[in-house]
Amino acid sequence: MQEINASIDFDRRLWRQDIRGSLAHAAMLARCGIIEPADEADIRQGLEAIAAEIESGRFPFSAALEDIHMNIEARLTERIGDAGRRLHTARSRNDQVAVDFRLWVRDAIDGLDAQLADLMRALAGRAAEHAADPMPGFTHLQTAQPVTFGHHLLAYVAMVSRDRGRLEDARRRLNESPLGAAALAGTSFPIDPAMTAAALGFDRPMGNSLDAVSDRDFAIEFLAAGAISAMHLSRFAEEMVIWCSAPFRFVALSDAFTTGSSIMPQKRNPDAAELVRAKSGRMLGSLVALLTVMKGLPLAYGKDMQEDKPPVFEAADAWALSLAATAGMVRDMQPDTARMRAAAGAGFATATDLADWLVRTLRLPFRSAHHVTGRLVARAEARGVDLAGLTLAEMQAEEPGITAAVFSVLDVAASVASRRSAGGTAPDNVAAAAARWLEVLG
Ligand code: ARG
Repeated sequence: MQEINASIDFDRRLWRQDIRGSLAHAAMLARCGIIEPADEADIRQGLEAIAAEIESGRFPFSAALEDIHMNIEARLTERIGDAGRRLHTARSRNDQVAVDFRLWVRDAIDGLDAQLADLMRALAGRAAEHAADPMPGFTHLQTAQPVTFGHHLLAYVAMVSRDRGRLEDARRRLNESPLGAAALAGTSFPIDPAMTAAALGFDRPMGNSLDAVSDRDFAIEFLAAGAISAMHLSRFAEEMVIWCSAPFRFVALSDAFTTGSSIMPQKRNPDAAELVRAKSGRMLGSLVALLTVMKGLPLAYGKDMQEDKPPVFEAADAWALSLAATAGMVRDMQPDTARMRAAAGAGFATATDLADWLVRTLRLPFRSAHHVTGRLVARAEARGVDLAGLTLAEMQAEEPGITAAVFSVLDVAASVASRRSAGGTAPDNVAAAAARWLEVLG
């Protein structure tokens, strides 16, 4: 029973939040005349001493005492006697763990938000550096149209910004205090839940005691935001792996983020990127794990809910590590701009520019222009040259109206510079967008 029942091995991570919650609760009990001021003073000193014990690694954690709440309370009573036994008045472990866990998730959100902002700063900084450097833009991982490397990086800035928005939303809904719900029905003591809520930085007490002790939607929202962020980080990691591969070599990572092979001396493996990609599996799994724990539970508390913590801790750890590694790689990577530029011009990447020129200059309907361009691509392919490698005569054989002016739009730099529509890849757009992000991020 002890082995399946005890949670101290993982919920000891709540110790700071548990002590904060108990300090606020004891202060409220004294203020409301439910315990004596002298008892509250003893409780405060006792809890502060216990915090120091845990901090320094001297606290005697015991599985027989089940969880962090009972471990701390038992130690408190050992130190201060009866006053320790009064701390749990008008409280249950059900509202206690709910408040601890909300505080923990809120602290995690604040830390992760700062890391997400840091990643955005790293990406936007590199985007500003490479606002005008072309690379092939892909769809289906096939060369589509030239874009700039800065533009590509800013796409991730936008994604990470929405990831922050999701955390912010989750934080706002999370920020209510369950204290006062007690076991499930509320309490008969004349408590002041608004006082504990304010002391712990919550916006208000929760409105329904059953809900307060029985929902973990706040943790699920955190994990959902984490799963989406992990999906973004994993996509970026995958691109990093592709860019670092020998046939691409768009970017190089230093030894700080790669490992060598024990047998193939030429290799520099992008392990950090691969692990970010893999850790997304844990984060997606954590969301499914907690949803599955919760979905069949009748109100109110059930011991099943003790299993809410490991997935949240695991996801939060993987998230923090993935963000640190990703920001580190973004700052570390050395783009090979010459290679990217060359690749941007290969694969008929400016075929759309040619079609657009036919529409603009010769007033061809777009579908006809698309058709003419397709035939020109086929000709170029047959001769083993790029579109710019065709002669004017060859072009005119497909469409007599074509003039030498067409060659100006087949150039990669001209192509990206022409994409001036809002949110497009023109270097001026990209430089301005990067500057805007960097200003917002401070
Ligand atoms: N360790 C428990 C948990 O994390 C604390 C709440 C226990 N409540 C109870 N009624 N047994 O859920």
